Amino acid sequence: MKQIETEKGIVIIEGPVSQRYLNSLEMDSNLNNFRSPARQKEALAIVAGLPEGMVYIARHKQRIIGYVLFHYPNEYSRWSRHPRILELGAIEVSRSWQKNGIAKALLQEAFKNPSLEDYVVITTEFYWHWDLKNSGLSVWDYRRMLQNLFGSVGFKRRHTDDPEILEHPANMLMVRIGKNVSKQHINMFDDLTYQHSIFM
Ligand SMILES: CC(C)(COP(=O)(O)OP(=O)(O)OC[C@H]1O[C@@H](n2cnc3c(N)ncnc32)[C@H](O)[C@@H]1OP(=O)(O)O)[C@@H](O)C(=O)NCCC(=O)NCCS
Repeated sequence: MKQIETEKGIVIIEGPVSQRYLNSLEMDSNLNNFRSPARQKEALAIVAGLPEGMVYIARHKQRIIGYVLFHYPNEYSRWSRHPRILELGAIEVSRSWQKNGIAKALLQEAFKNPSLEDYVVITTEFYWHWDLKNSGLSVWDYRRMLQNLFGSVGFKRRHTDDPEILEHPANMLMVRIGKNVSKQHINMFDDLTYQHSIFM
């Protein structure tokens, strides 16, 4: 657990949180980048209830103002074929609380968890999920901001022939290889990044 002092008050960073605890909190009305706050809260609760799922939250009083979540990749994606992979599914901070270091603190708190060192953690970044309008950033500056944010906990950009990533040049795959991931699992991940080349 960690506390951040902002002009708007104290923010607690904590996790992994349980489904029951999540359900006892309210969701900030500006947590609507991906879906409505109510639906996003349901999504957080589902992930918190998965055996491998992990949700970290930023909380002001009884209100969730930010979150980051981890789960297994979608079973239809190539990444799900890897036995030690987790996906950072989303990170969001309420618009009214942004630029206070909350997203960075959420990532730092999550990656203190030693269990994440056993995994290759990926994030597939599609520009159509980004809040370009509110940030005032160009697509390239937004991408730079995310590279810096995820880079702060050791993610690196990786090239891949994943067609969804290739759909737009700003999209990117970022990867963090945990300290305890075996050489064999690292090689297996390398093979997955360029899936088509294996069969050529
Ligand atoms: C991306 C997001 C989570 C960042 O949250 P945040 O709490 O404002 O981020 P932080 O305050 O921790 O800032 C981290 C860094 O990014 C920079 N940054 C954040 N927003 C910025 C903006 N709009 N313009 C310029 N820089 C910005 C900060 O200055 C900081 O830089 P530093 O490391 O040099 O100090 C937030 O903008 C958001 O929720 N966006 C919508 C959802 C999204 O795009 N999620 C990412 C894809 S899953």
